[in-house]
Formats: sequence, C-alpha cells, structure tokens
Amino acid sequence: MNQEFKQYKELVEKHLLDFLPEIDHKSITVYEAMKYSLTAGGKRLRPVLLLAACDFAGGDIKEAIPYACALEYIHTYSLIHDDMPEMDNDDLRRGMPTNHKMFGEAMALLAGDGLLSSAFEAMTKDSLIYFDNHEKLKRRVSAAYEIAKNAGCRGMVAGQVADIEAESKQCSKEMLDYIHINKTAALIMGAVRAGALLGGADTKLLNDLTLYAENLGLAFQIADDILDVIGDEKELGKKTGVDSELNKATYPALYGLEASQKRLHELTVNAVEALADYYDNAEFFTDLVKDLEVRVN
Ligand code: IPE
Ligand code: IPE
Ligand code: MG
Ligand code: MG
Ligand code: MG
Repeated sequence: MNQEFKQYKELVEKHLLDFLPEIDHKSITVYEAMKYSLTAGGKRLRPVLLLAACDFAGGDIKEAIPYACALEYIHTYSLIHDDMPEMDNDDLRRGMPTNHKMFGEAMALLAGDGLLSSAFEAMTKDSLIYFDNHEKLKRRVSAAYEIAKNAGCRGMVAGQVADIEAESKQCSKEMLDYIHINKTAALIMGAVRAGALLGGADTKLLNDLTLYAENLGLAFQIADDILDVIGDEKELGKKTGVDSELNKATYPALYGLEASQKRLHELTVNAVEALADYYDNAEFFTDLVKDLEVRVN
C-alpha cells in the first residue's frame, strides 16, 4: 500500500468510532452491531479520498475527519444492507460473517439505519461549531450536502434500486452504466467533492477532481465485477461467484472478461488524464487508480 494512503487510512481508523453516539445500555445491541461492521476491516477508500482531496485543495485534514468518518459510516451501512437476504444474500464481508449472520436481520437493518443517521449527526454537530464563521460553515454544509446527495436516491440508493431490478433481466449497456455510476461512482464522487469543498477548492479543481472520481468510481465497480469472477475469496474477504449466481447485471456478464479489462484500462487512462494539469502533484490520485488496475490483472 502507498505510504500516503496508509497515513490517511490510519488517521481514519484512529477516529472511526469517535462519532458513534453514546447509546443507552438498553439499546446497546445496535451499538455493538454498528461497531462490528465498522471495525471488521475494509480498504477505507472513500474516507481516504475525502482526506486526500481536502489536502490537495490546501485544507486542514484534521478538520475533515468527522466528514471522512461519516462517509465510512454511510458506506458501511450500504454494505450491511447490500448483504442482507433481501438484497445480495451474502454471508461473508470484510473476512467476517455478515452483520445479519451475527446479529440477526432486524438488528442488521437497524445497525444500517443507525450508521446512516450517525453520519448526519456527526456532520451537523461539527457544522454547528462554526456557526459564527461564515466561510467555514459554508464549506461544511456544502460537504454534507454532497455526501447526502450522492448517497441518496439520486446516487447510491438509486443505483442499488436499479441493480436489484436488473437481476435476471436483459440489461442494456446504458442501463449497466447507470447502475454502476450510481451504486458505486456516486459515493466516490461525493467523497472527493466533499473533501475538495472542505479544503476550499476553486471551481476548476473541483471539476477536475469530479471527472477523476467519476472515472475512478466506474473503474472501481468494473474491477469489483471482474474480481467476483477471477478474484480470491480470502484476499477479498467476501464470496466470489455471487454475481453470476444472482444473475446480476455486470461488466463481465454483458461484455465478457477481456472487454471488461479493456474498459477498465480506458477509464484508468481517463482518470489520470483528468488530473494532467497538476503533473506530479496529483500522483497520489493517479497512482491510486493505476494500482486498482494492477490489482485486477
Ligand atoms: C464494496 O466496496 C462495495 C462496492 C462498491 C464494490 P469496497 O470494495 O470499498 O469495500 P470495503 O470497504 O473495502 O470493504
Ligand atoms: C454494491 O455492489 C454497491 C453498494 C452500494 C454496496 P456489490 O453488490 O457488487 O458489492 P459487493 O460485491 O457485495 O461488495
Ligand atoms: Mg449489490
Ligand atoms: Mg453485494
Ligand atoms: Mg460486487
């Protein structure tokens, strides 16, 4: 792992539980269920991207921590719900039994609800500290808005809806991109945009990072689809072969493996190209997307 990635990741993990609300012991089960999935592992890609974008825009990454953690709460909730029997019916996640296997379906549903609302509690509570500083408050509210919009029913939720409805159906190439852009790229775009806004990015930097993140996000889901076919269960920490079992609309299913690899390469080139104006300064971002392609080859 890239040294810079490692440093951002460590910062996220150090603070990851800080923003879980204190919970009455009578409802402690939901706290245990939330904590279980948060601490099970994970690459922490989205919060790392948020911190890196804030850094790149010239912001103070320490101030971005509540937003980075909130984003990981939202991503983790999406995984808990994605694994439930009503959705992808998975029993392994981040190398551990899925949340509903450990805590039961009702509690997994509630742990997801708890993580989603805790994310907004963390971001709004932080914003309140800056009530008298117009510029800082504006950056925070803008970041929370980006995260909400991209996680919700114009983003990740929309993609999950289309993903479920496309199961066992003929899916057009256009629809497949709609699914992938929304279920996965949206939250990655939200991560980068929120970080850039927190760091005070100008319009050009915000637009360039957004284009980078859109290409990275689509590449990331294509890589995930490819790894479901050729990846190693132990290394991935989740079951493989699930997509074909469920007749999911995926890149390998629609285009075949070779064409999927080719598309992944094109998107990697596009992502690198989006940050060409920043030369070596954008190396963290360009290395990240290149490493993703290498992982899948
Ligand atoms: C899994 O995301 C869900 C997808 C969008 C493919 P990650 O591959 O980032 O999962 P973790 O966070 O590392 O477990
Ligand atoms: C999930 O896509 C995207 C989410 C929003 C959680 P997948 O269903 O392909 O993710 P995995 O393979 O279970 O991690
Ligand atoms: Mg799914
Ligand atoms: Mg799944
Ligand atoms: Mg998958």
